[in-house]
Amino acid sequence: GGALTVGLLGCGVVGTEVVRLLREQADDLAARIGVPLHLGGVAVRRLDKPRPGVDPDLLTTDAVGLVTRDDIDIVVEVIGGIEPARGLVLAAMKAGKAVISANKALLAEDGETLFGAAREYGADLYYEASVAGAIPLLRPLRESLVGDHVHKVLGIVNGTTNYILDQMDTHGAGFTEALEEAQTLGYAEADPTADVEGFDAAAKAAILAQLAFHSPVRAADVHREGITEVSAADMASAQAMGCVVKLLAICERVPAADGNGRNGRGVSVRVYPAMIPRSHPLASVREAYNAVFVEAESAGRLMFYGAGAGGAPTASAVLGDLVAVARNKVNGTRGPAETTYAALPVLPMGET
Ligand code: NDP
Ligand code: HSE
Repeated sequence: GGALTVGLLGCGVVGTEVVRLLREQADDLAARIGVPLHLGGVAVRRLDKPRPGVDPDLLTTDAVGLVTRDDIDIVVEVIGGIEPARGLVLAAMKAGKAVISANKALLAEDGETLFGAAREYGADLYYEASVAGAIPLLRPLRESLVGDHVHKVLGIVNGTTNYILDQMDTHGAGFTEALEEAQTLGYAEADPTADVEGFDAAAKAAILAQLAFHSPVRAADVHREGITEVSAADMASAQAMGCVVKLLAICERVPAADGNGRNGRGVSVRVYPAMIPRSHPLASVREAYNAVFVEAESAGRLMFYGAGAGGAPTASAVLGDLVAVARNKVNGTRGPAETTYAALPVLPMGET
């Protein structure tokens, strides 16, 4: 067949890097997929903003028009937020497009609607970039570990807060100054409240819990505490105890009181700042890096580590999804559909 055409929604920190990689890697991508990937249009909010490296003829403010255009095969959503992203992703799948999204807020708020639409319309929905940036984590949970029995997923899944805590710890930086740096480096969400209040980590924890436990977990189910209350005095007392403060996301099965039943009583999903001994591997996760441990019955303990935020690392994950869905299109197949069948209750904090 001919080329496959991509419609890009959003051209900010991540979208700009997706455009760059599509251009710079064009020949390799064509070889790996079997047909060329062609960028057919880029939807943005402001047409007058300078966008070096982006062909101005591709820009449009008509995102709905772009996702329903006949020649578009694959839609990449890197706008963020709930609306208009949700409506656009649903419209794209309804129009038969494969969808790739980096939008954890949307997936953790309304994943069930999105996965339902993917099933109904026979569309691919891939979202590797939504959790832990460049780190391959969702596909391992979804595919490589799907035959195992996962007990626990634990780690650092927000780059902005890790950057802030690290700058406070190692350079005695102030919170506000460190947050501004994280924003400049492209790590923070458009509204950084999502990062510093733990909403972004909670959304990622919900997505991880859903894939690990095959149970529908939403961001609102996650017990959440951010880092805005972490003071310089807290950092100092952690240091005095040989510890470092990290924002942790923890998803775990809670066994039944009698120990019976493999699924346990439910799942506990929580995000909060914790003191970690400096000797712990998570203590050495610096700047905007992320690290996640997965504990599964037969696999044992696995560790995933890498760049958790930023344009290029996140675009790497998007491009991986692009090749995967493009190959599916070429082969006339679909990727694994999301299945959530173990309706495990999400237990309140403290019930373990
Ligand atoms: P940015 O804020 O940098 O970019 C958002 C883009 O979306 C901009 O180009 C903006 O247009 C465009 N946009 C906003 N509203 C609309 C609209 N109504 N119609 C069309 N376009 C619109 O965000 P990021 O690139 O940082 O993040 C994008 C997504 O990726 C989010 O879901 C985020 O959570 C996720 N993500 C981000 C990571 C990161 O490190 N930055 C890492 C992993 C995931 P304009 O340019 O005109 O303002
Ligand atoms: N704002 C997010 C973070 C981007 O800092 O981790 C990556 O998902």
